[in-house]
Amino acid sequence: MQPEAVQPSIRANAVIRNIKQLVTVAQQPIAGASGVLQVLDKAALAVYRGKIVWIGRDDEAEPLFLSTRQDGITIVDAQGTVITPGFVDSHTHLVFAGQRAEEFHLRRAGMSYAELLAQGKGILTTVEATRRADAETLLTLAQKRLRLMRDHGTTTVEIKSGYGLDRVNEEACLHIINNLKALEEESPSSFPQRIRVVPTFLAAHVLPREYRERRADYIKLVVEELLPSFVGLARFCDVFCDTEAFTVEECRKILSRAKELGYRLKIHADQLSPSGGARLAAELGATSADHLDFASDEDLKALRDTGVVATLLPGCSYTLRSPYPSARRLLDLGLTVALATDCNPGTSYCENMQMIIGLAMAEMGMSLEEALTAATINGAKALALEKEIGSIEVGKRCELALWQLEDYREIGYHFGVNLVQSTLTLV
Ligand code: NIG
Ligand code: FE
Repeated sequence: MQPEAVQPSIRANAVIRNIKQLVTVAQQPIAGASGVLQVLDKAALAVYRGKIVWIGRDDEAEPLFLSTRQDGITIVDAQGTVITPGFVDSHTHLVFAGQRAEEFHLRRAGMSYAELLAQGKGILTTVEATRRADAETLLTLAQKRLRLMRDHGTTTVEIKSGYGLDRVNEEACLHIINNLKALEEESPSSFPQRIRVVPTFLAAHVLPREYRERRADYIKLVVEELLPSFVGLARFCDVFCDTEAFTVEECRKILSRAKELGYRLKIHADQLSPSGGARLAAELGATSADHLDFASDEDLKALRDTGVVATLLPGCSYTLRSPYPSARRLLDLGLTVALATDCNPGTSYCENMQMIIGLAMAEMGMSLEEALTAATINGAKALALEKEIGSIEVGKRCELALWQLEDYREIGYHFGVNLVQSTLTLV
C-alpha cells in the first residue's frame, strides 16, 4: 500500500522511534500540586534542526517520515526505552578543588555547618583549595562531574562561580564554566550527548579572609568592579543571604546593581536561618529563590505572587542532617517548585538528579509526577529557559533522557542504581 501523502508542513531531519513510553511533562511549568502526566505508549518523535516538530505513535511515523520523498532523515532507535525530558539541574557549584569529607564526619559528631563557617572552615576551605589549583585541573575536575551528571540523565546544568572570591579567581572560574559549555563526547551508546551549561556569578558566597575587617570594601569590589566586568560571562548573579554570609542590605546592593547591568537574579535564601532572603527575591523579581528551609508562609506567598521559582535542594538536608523542608507545604501554597542537586563539596556532594528525586519523594512529600516536573520544566523555569527546554513538546529543543525501565513509575521506586541508559540531544 502506498503511504499517505507526507504532510508538507512537517519537515524533519531525525526521527526517534521505538520509544516504549514518552513522558512529555507537557504544558507546564506547574504551580502547585501536579496531577497526571501525559504519557504516550509506543511513541516516536521527529526533530528538525534540534527542535521537536512532531510527536505521535510509532506506527504513524513510518508513512509520515519514511517515504522516499524525504531524504537525509536519520532514524534513531530508542531501543524500547522510556523517554523523559533531560533533567535541568538549576543549582550547582561544580567548579571547585578538594573535598571536605572531614567536615562531613565532624557534623556527624554534632558540629553544625554554621559553627564550621564561623570558624573559617566550610566554604573558605574550598576557596583556598580552588585558588591553589590551576585552570586545567579545575576544568578536568568539573568535566568529570559534568559527565557524571549527564550519565544520570541531566542535559542542562547551571554552574556557579563563588570559590574564587577575588577578581582573578572568579574570572578564571567563570571562564572555565564557559569552556564547559557544549561538552560533547563519545559514549558507548553513540548518541549525541551535549550538555547545556548556564553560568552564574555567585558574587557574595562568603566574605573572603583578606576582607575580614573590611566588609564594605568587598561589597564595593563586587558592585563597582566585578559585576560590570563579568557582564557576558554569566547569565545570572547569585548571593548567599544568611547568617555567617551576607545581610539583606548587602545582598540588595549587589543584586540591584546586577539587575541594572542585565543579569538575572538568584538567591541562596533562608537556608540556615530566617534571613529575609526570600522576601528580597520577591522584592527584586529574582528568577528563583533557593533552599528556603526557614522561609515563613508569608515569605512563600510573596514568592508565589511575584512568580519566583522556589528551588528545593534535598541533598543539603541529607548532608547537613537538618530537617527536610516540606515541598508539600510549598505546593499546597501554589508555588512553582524546582529540584536541583546543589552539587558542592560542603553541603551536597551529589551529581545525580535521580537521587534528588528519590529524596524529594521519600522525605519532602512529593509525588513522582511532582518531582519529575520539578526536575525538568520547573528547573527550566528556574533558569528562564522554560520556553526552550524542560518538556517534550513541538517547538522545544530535543534534549532527552532515555531510561531502561518497563514503566516510568519505577523512578524513585527502584533506588540506589542508575536507571538512565543515556541522554540524547539533537542539534
Ligand atoms: O548551596 N549555602 C551556600 N552555598 C552552598 C554551600 C557551599 C559550600 O559549603 O561549599 C549551598 O549549600
Ligand atoms: Fe548552593
